Amino acid sequence: MLLVSEPTVGVGEKLALAEVIDSNWITMGGRVEAFERAFSAQHQAEDAVAVNSCTAGLHLALQALGIGPGDEVLVPSLSFVATANCALYCGATPVFVDVEAADLPLISLNDATARLSPRTRAVIVMHYAGYMADAQAWRSFADAHGLFLIEDSAHAVGPGRGPVFGDVAAFSFYGNKNMTTAEGGMVIAPDPDLLERVRRARGHGMTSGTAERLHSRVPTYDVTMLGFNYRMTELNAAIGLVQLRQLDAWNAQRERLTRAYRRHLSRRCPDVSVPFPVPLASTYHILPALLPAHADRAVVMDRMRSAGIQTTFHYPPIHQLSYYRDRFPAVVLPHTEAFAARELTLPLHPRLSEPQVEEIVGSLVAALAD
Ligand SMILES: Cc1ncc(COP(=O)(O)O)c(C=O)c1O
Repeated sequence: MLLVSEPTVGVGEKLALAEVIDSNWITMGGRVEAFERAFSAQHQAEDAVAVNSCTAGLHLALQALGIGPGDEVLVPSLSFVATANCALYCGATPVFVDVEAADLPLISLNDATARLSPRTRAVIVMHYAGYMADAQAWRSFADAHGLFLIEDSAHAVGPGRGPVFGDVAAFSFYGNKNMTTAEGGMVIAPDPDLLERVRRARGHGMTSGTAERLHSRVPTYDVTMLGFNYRMTELNAAIGLVQLRQLDAWNAQRERLTRAYRRHLSRRCPDVSVPFPVPLASTYHILPALLPAHADRAVVMDRMRSAGIQTTFHYPPIHQLSYYRDRFPAVVLPHTEAFAARELTLPLHPRLSEPQVEEIVGSLVAALAD
């Protein structure tokens, strides 16, 4: 089966895990710190905080910014549910925003402007498929309206995304992401005070961690804020350090494969389009394709599965998921709904080859035939 995504893990990760076990220090130690330093350097940032998921990172970001009950947070509905959940975790209200268009499925500036209210405190942009939302436009929007800008950067891991432009950005290292730590995430915030609040809240709001107390003369700790256990383990960080060294090469391979997809698709099935025809900075996280309006996606997926090719879709819009539909029944987002109904995600990961891309496109052509 050709999978939509798969982790690239091997001997390097096994050796790194064995070293952690032999060291007998398995959580929040030197490897987590080294991973934070290496990740921030690679992403043109001064510092970063490792957490146990991007979801945890988003939650900490909103909490550190003081988002709470009565506040509204603008969010794209074309995203993973965590993008909206983090607002609810803080007692705030997510306000769903449409995407720009079928060929630019990123949160729409015009629609965000239309949904502003006196309660709006923040906006979360999500770099769908790794394609970067417009840094200048969103920074100006946030500044003009006195909003915090948060980047859900789960899809945008790697220097190709450019430096963080939001007040906070959260990255994901889940198993299907551009690099993985099995589960894990990272937070970058240009303001060191804000990042320090994130760091402290990651570990119960405690003034020191176990490793720090071991090496310091202060045997006790204080708790200065409401915090959580969102810590990363040494095992995850050790995997992350190995993965990080290969991230540039992997993202370059993702880009090559994306170009191959665009070439083969435009030649062999021109009625299937790939969004983002105008080049944008990208980390090429997934390969979204838009099927023709008359195609039955379930049938196409079934036929491709029979041919040994897994496909999926990104995403069922959050506002249409039962939990959210029950709470926000009036939300209608025409561009998001139309896009989500036709989108099909094709396999894209660094182990895939260009001949396999050609084979996948051939299988899509066959699956679309009457
Ligand atoms: C857009 C987006 N945001 C947030 C997340 C949550 O990431 P994690 O699984 O690391 O919590 C994901 C993960 O799939 C995602 O795709």
